[in-house]
Amino acid sequence: MKFDQLNSTLIIELTNMCNLNCIMCEIDRPRQGFMTIDLFREILNKIKQSKYSFNMFLPFWKGEPLLHPQFIEMMELYLKMNLNNSIAKNLGFDTNAHFLDKDISEFILKSNIFTVITFSIDAACNNTYSLIRGGDFEKILNNIRRFIKIKLSLNKKNPNIVFQFIVMEENKDELGDFIKKIKELLLEFDIKNLKVNYNYDKPDFIGEYTILFRKVLKKNKVEQEKSNILFSQKMSEIFEDFNTISNLKTICGGPFSHVAIDYEGNVYPCCVENKVDFSLGNIIYKSLNDIICSEDMIKLRNYLLGIGNEKNKVCENCIGQVFPIYYEKNIKMLKGLSEI
Ligand SMILES: C[S@@+](CC[C@H](N)C(=O)[O-])C[C@H]1O[C@@H](n2cnc3c(N)ncnc32)[C@H](O)[C@@H]1O
Ligand code: SF4
Repeated sequence: MKFDQLNSTLIIELTNMCNLNCIMCEIDRPRQGFMTIDLFREILNKIKQSKYSFNMFLPFWKGEPLLHPQFIEMMELYLKMNLNNSIAKNLGFDTNAHFLDKDISEFILKSNIFTVITFSIDAACNNTYSLIRGGDFEKILNNIRRFIKIKLSLNKKNPNIVFQFIVMEENKDELGDFIKKIKELLLEFDIKNLKVNYNYDKPDFIGEYTILFRKVLKKNKVEQEKSNILFSQKMSEIFEDFNTISNLKTICGGPFSHVAIDYEGNVYPCCVENKVDFSLGNIIYKSLNDIICSEDMIKLRNYLLGIGNEKNKVCENCIGQVFPIYYEKNIKMLKGLSEI
């Protein structure tokens, strides 16, 4: 069974713990912890032994990656083991930027392995930031400023920087101010090449400096529908092409392109759900080949493609489909990937 190579993504959750408690982050954390460096090494070895390699490696999932005390050590290990891109071609992560100190910034920039870094901000002013994220707005802006300063002084194009804004009730009136705020911040460094975008599925969604608006995911389907409407309204105010793209029918592409491994080694077929009963098994006891070609994975793919009668309870109730998604016209390509 194949993966969609272009969109293939490997998620390894270094930790599901976090220093913040953002209001929209409805994460279930029945257990909390840090991945050990031994488990991380074992996972990387298992991937190298498998027939799969990925386009993108994301060393985070449900927590704050920079909270891991061995973040640098783990990334250095990855760098050493990823010879000839045998694990992944690109590397990126999202962060709340609270721990983005000088040392981490220099490491990220000098290591040359990071393709993209996403700063999750979600606000244009201190009040809204406190309300949504509860952290220190000025501190993260200053950390980001220092990161840009070091990036320029080292003359590095990578990582591309994404300033992310998840659109929700609490910040819906600040979209324009956010664009203004980021523009002003970049102008402090004489940077004028800012891209403003609203979703991952536009082919050119990312530039060296990009503002990305995303919709908030709600666990409840009714709430999700409300948030989709809010997002559509707000995006239509800013982007002329928003309605054309958002009306195209899509299907979820998780099991065709994603492998997510939690901090304990449990493997999942997408980046939304981490309920234990959705796990395909633990990477310690199974090979990646067996997990990806498992009957469970085939059933999931068939369900999403509308083949057969078997349903999947988790997918059925999922409000995901934010990323990864495929337009209906890609169904033929996805069917091809399911052949063993
Ligand atoms: C769970 S966080 C982990 C990384 C890091 N702590 C951060 O905030 O960027 C990963 C991403 O999910 C986003 N996120 C959190 N809750 C969300 C929600 N309900 N809907 C959509 N995205 C959400 C965050 O903004 C972040 O970009
Ligand atoms: S910083 Fe990230 S992981 Fe932490 S609560 Fe906020 S969105 Fe969730």
